[in-house]
Amino acid sequence: MDRQLTKKWQPDSWQSHAAGQQPLYADPAAVTRVLDAIRRLPPLVTCGEVDKLRRQLAEAGRGERFVLQGGDCAESFDACTAEPIANKLKILLQMSLVLVHGLKKRVVRVGRIAGQYAKPRSADLEIRDGITLPSYRGDIINHVGFSAAERRADPALLLRGYEYAALTLNYVRALVDGGFADLHHPELWDLEFVRHSPLEAEYRRIVQSISDAMSFMETISGQSLSDSSSVDFFTSHEGLHLLYEQAQTQFVTEAGRWYNLATHFPWIGMRTADVDGAHVEYFRGIANPIAVKVGPDMAPEHLLALCAALNPDNELGRLTLIHRFGAARIEEKLPPLVEAVRKTRKQVLWICDPMHGNTELTASGLKTRRFENILGELESSFVLHARLGSILAGVHFELTGDDVTECTGGARGLTDNDLERAYKSQVDPRLNYEQALEMAMRIVARKAGK
Ligand code: PEP
Ligand code: CO
Repeated sequence: MDRQLTKKWQPDSWQSHAAGQQPLYADPAAVTRVLDAIRRLPPLVTCGEVDKLRRQLAEAGRGERFVLQGGDCAESFDACTAEPIANKLKILLQMSLVLVHGLKKRVVRVGRIAGQYAKPRSADLEIRDGITLPSYRGDIINHVGFSAAERRADPALLLRGYEYAALTLNYVRALVDGGFADLHHPELWDLEFVRHSPLEAEYRRIVQSISDAMSFMETISGQSLSDSSSVDFFTSHEGLHLLYEQAQTQFVTEAGRWYNLATHFPWIGMRTADVDGAHVEYFRGIANPIAVKVGPDMAPEHLLALCAALNPDNELGRLTLIHRFGAARIEEKLPPLVEAVRKTRKQVLWICDPMHGNTELTASGLKTRRFENILGELESSFVLHARLGSILAGVHFELTGDDVTECTGGARGLTDNDLERAYKSQVDPRLNYEQALEMAMRIVARKAGK
């Protein structure tokens, strides 16, 4: 590790470290051509936005804000159409409204969106009916279909990924800037299903209460609450495919630092958090706020080494630790890590991802997650952080604004038998619209002691 810290960082210095989870391309010259093309294209985000997010995350680390991060496990190019994008934005805005109202804190909204196209896999190969092919690694690498041609890593998809990210972000920005996210008009965020939902009355009550509070403030002050009426929305994705991330890494002269301008908030996945590995080497040199997934196998010494490598200036807002142990293991796994961080005074944000430790297979072989386990891990997380004197600064969900059936439970009581009806995820099961909204309400209800 010392060797790593003293060596000069460059956008490509990760290439002399072991890089896990990278695709193998048959034609390296074609990869170079595509990366050169991406390098010439404009950045997707600006360093000003990235710095703003880092400041907001620092506030969340002090308990002044709450982070809501969510979106697909894997975005697909096919789903880059108006409705799913708008629905995802809507559910995140609705959840944030519930959280703002209930927690009495501003919310930092971060989508797993506009670039969440590369997936780590537990197995390099997939076997079906005696045929062995490379695993699907996300739309930016290969195709989900099970044929040799579809599973070949195709460099042209890197450029498509950049383009789809740009198209998605363009639409998100247009919606946000065009007044869609204006707190004066939460009715614009209405999703079709809210009208059939058991949660409708509670949601309407919250919207009404915010609207009343805003009119009251505007009457008292004689001014429109224009500053607080529109919201910030940030993007994030797993910075897995390092050649792709490197191609969008730029030195910003005014800031005197390197930024990854493909996204505001990239994270290191659980499988690529090796301190000496290529991902940590790449991430340590970019100025973005960054996150690392922390799983049940991470020892306290490993975590402290990551903090030293990734946040040497010990700056709050720079490093977020997203823990994902599973409801059954969090009580055992979280306390030693929080203790280690507290004792060494490492400045970090803790966020709970209650999805990835709670995945299971149904009898028919579908990947699912139970609402009660997701909520259970979240509950334990709030309780444990409070007991250990640290702050749970936010939550990280896999969710969609659509009416899918991928996770069981929730107000409508979905069972394993319901899953076939609208199981659309290509990788992990997501909370559907109603389950996601209910999750936000349950977070708030626990604070109110309901
Ligand atoms: C993910 O966030 O989709 C993921 C693969 O998570 P993890 O790295 O925590 O397993
Ligand atoms: Co996932």
